Amino acid sequence: MNKESRGNFSSKIGVVLATAGSAVGLGNVWRFPYMAGQNGGAAFILIYIGFVFLLGIPGMVCEFIVGRNAHTNAARSYAKLGGKTPFAWAGIIGLFAGMCILGFYSVVAGWCLHYFYASLTGGLKGDTTAVAEYFQNFSSSAVTPAVLAVLFVLLTHFVVAKGVKSGIEKASKLLMPLLFIFLIVIIIASCSLPGAGEGIKFLFHPDFSKIDRTVLLAALGQAFFSLSLGAACLCTYASYFDKGVNLLQSASQIALVDTLIAILAGLMIFPAAFSVGVSPDSGPSLIFITLPNVFNQAFGSMPIVGYIVSVMFYALLVLAALTSTISMHEIGTAFFHEELNISRGNAAWITTAICSAIGVLCALSVGNGSLSLFGKSILDFLDFLTAQILMPLVAMLTCLLVGWYVPKDIVWREYTNRGTLRGTLFAIFYFCARVVCPLCILMIFLDQLKLI
Ligand code: TRP
Repeated sequence: MNKESRGNFSSKIGVVLATAGSAVGLGNVWRFPYMAGQNGGAAFILIYIGFVFLLGIPGMVCEFIVGRNAHTNAARSYAKLGGKTPFAWAGIIGLFAGMCILGFYSVVAGWCLHYFYASLTGGLKGDTTAVAEYFQNFSSSAVTPAVLAVLFVLLTHFVVAKGVKSGIEKASKLLMPLLFIFLIVIIIASCSLPGAGEGIKFLFHPDFSKIDRTVLLAALGQAFFSLSLGAACLCTYASYFDKGVNLLQSASQIALVDTLIAILAGLMIFPAAFSVGVSPDSGPSLIFITLPNVFNQAFGSMPIVGYIVSVMFYALLVLAALTSTISMHEIGTAFFHEELNISRGNAAWITTAICSAIGVLCALSVGNGSLSLFGKSILDFLDFLTAQILMPLVAMLTCLLVGWYVPKDIVWREYTNRGTLRGTLFAIFYFCARVVCPLCILMIFLDQLKLI
């Protein structure tokens, strides 16, 4: 398959935008606050930030190198560099993780879609208890969440198959700043609620006694999930990068924007959660039972403003989720297209079918005890399996591959765009890829298994 027929991103800004669009999504607005809430707040956030910069950025650069070097789908990219070693499996494991994530992510994106509709039609009114019950009833109902999950996969399918991604890329130039502005507006509203100070304290006053082995693994998983790292996604996107893209700079910019949005989401949720009495460790339901209260209460004197802000915010959330699901869908589509030698359209249908099936199972498992795995709903189980096991594993293999197995001159050539860049911070990057990242991930795994 030659390079032209696979297509490249049209411009450098297109690359950064699409990859940033992949990174910024429900991972920041939905998953980050609930993870931080379950794992003690500020201390978790500090560790999270440390992991993003120490492990995330070098890990992203490694994954970019694998993808851009091979210019092909994830499985073959890893096989090209890894040969017959176990490194070659990383692409397939990543692909598997990416498809599972698309399955459960669509369920949550479907919830957002429903909340968009419900806020539009004024269905999210009432006090804190009513709002919590609303979510409970909705998410555990049998039909709507499953239908919405499939709808979301189909929406993604349409964008990927029709190749209208460039439109979405351009739109995200506008959408991301807009999301940022809305976050700020809602943060102001949330912080103006009585008793909001407690939430700010929860976010910024670390209590290090709360750090244990589960917190470390949770922060690691969240960092990778939020950066889309370790699931063959960055490597698939990087296979479309041209040789002018500065890998380190792009990874750093994306990590910065991604972290900023996550922290803003925390600032939006916790002051309000403390104010209205929603427990910070409510889990996946956290934003869905907190946000409607902000819109109902903080904008009490100006209901029309609350209405507009809420509708626009849920719409933005759906779009942010869409730029992320597009990147997950692309992993499978590129793989089936190139490996089975079928058209992109058919490859996209295979991805859609598999991920819709996973999505339906996940949607049905919420609030239904009989559909559980290892004591968790299928949704929670897949979330745990992918973010906290498979993604760190793939990221570790990627760093080892680039750090030890691939000849250094190939790494240098990719890093410096064939010698056209100065190779800023190469020594630090290379050391992180060889030693720091694999060792940290390994230690967290061993620690989790109670082996150290
Ligand atoms: N990073 C995205 C978010 O924060 C989720 C995501 C997009 C993702 N593409 C991915 C996660 C690929 C894993 C793999 O919402």
